[in-house]
Amino acid sequence: MKSNSGEVIGWENIELISDRPLETMLEDFVRLKREYPDHILIASIMEEYNKESWIKLVDMCEQAGVDGFEINFSCPHGMPERKMGMAMGQDCELLAEVTEWVCDHARIPVWSKMTPNITDITMPSRVCLQAGSDGIAAINTIQSISAVDLDTLRPQPCVEGMTTYGGYSSTAVKPIALARVASIAGLIRDEYPGQGKSLSGIGGINTGYDAAEFILLGADTVQICSGVMMHGYGMVGECRSQLSEFMGRHGFTSLADFKGMSLPYITTHTELVRLQREAIEEKKKAKVGLGNDDAWSGDDFVKQSDSMVSN
Ligand SMILES: Cc1cc2nc3c(=O)[nH]c(=O)nc-3n(C[C@H](O)[C@H](O)[C@H](O)COP(=O)(O)O)c2cc1C
Repeated sequence: MKSNSGEVIGWENIELISDRPLETMLEDFVRLKREYPDHILIASIMEEYNKESWIKLVDMCEQAGVDGFEINFSCPHGMPERKMGMAMGQDCELLAEVTEWVCDHARIPVWSKMTPNITDITMPSRVCLQAGSDGIAAINTIQSISAVDLDTLRPQPCVEGMTTYGGYSSTAVKPIALARVASIAGLIRDEYPGQGKSLSGIGGINTGYDAAEFILLGADTVQICSGVMMHGYGMVGECRSQLSEFMGRHGFTSLADFKGMSLPYITTHTELVRLQREAIEEKKKAKVGLGNDDAWSGDDFVKQSDSMVSN
């Protein structure tokens, strides 16, 4: 999806999991660790509902030298008919069982990757943390149909006249991802204080400033997928510079200095109404701004609404 100025703002994919054989991936893992021994390599793993298969996969990846696992409980088109990916991540009983299989067996840290295609993302996150997951990664793509062609009447993208539900990513999903990350960060803060559970923020990150927003809402690390596909690996260096610039501007010397700093500023709608009523009362006393809703006028709409929300 493009904006009017031609910039890509949203991206739908209908990719299945990779068709590269597992053996090729394992060879890649070995080679990567040999060439970059000091870098962290995390294997994203997905399997069917079968304990032996998961354990075998964990063993093979560990033998190849990976440093951590991310369990893909979230791909929206990762063979739901075989209960894989999102189909597993939407079922809290399956999630608990499979997370326990992996976490009990793995000797390295495990993150569970959440789907946003669920009413309350804290429910599966909590299940995974309870079952032993060291952390949560969020979000995977948002289930989508990118458009309907008004000439052919076919939903897009069209493959031999048909489509399937895809996964939406990139800039357009960032506000949704930020909200999901904030709610998981709140869960970790409130229910797992001081227990080292970590959170990896994903969704629509294109710059180091986007990354800073995720960290401010409680992410420990961030991931970029569509951005790198669109702009190339060079963007990672740019993101690092932008993040450093942001940190320098605020005098932060480590990520810990600002991780979660914006989280306390999220409250309920009821509380916003109460705060605003209080602020209006204060303004009334000072005889500036709006006294009440009746004081709104059509001409000054933008100025007046700005005065209520920009502070
Ligand atoms: C083409 C494509 C393929 C993807 N494949 C996977 C995958 O195999 N496993 C997975 O966990 N997530 C996969 N994702 C989801 C991304 O890792 C990421 O969670 C999501 O796209 C949101 O981040 P982004 O806006 O930076 O792309 C894929 C995304 C895209 C666009």
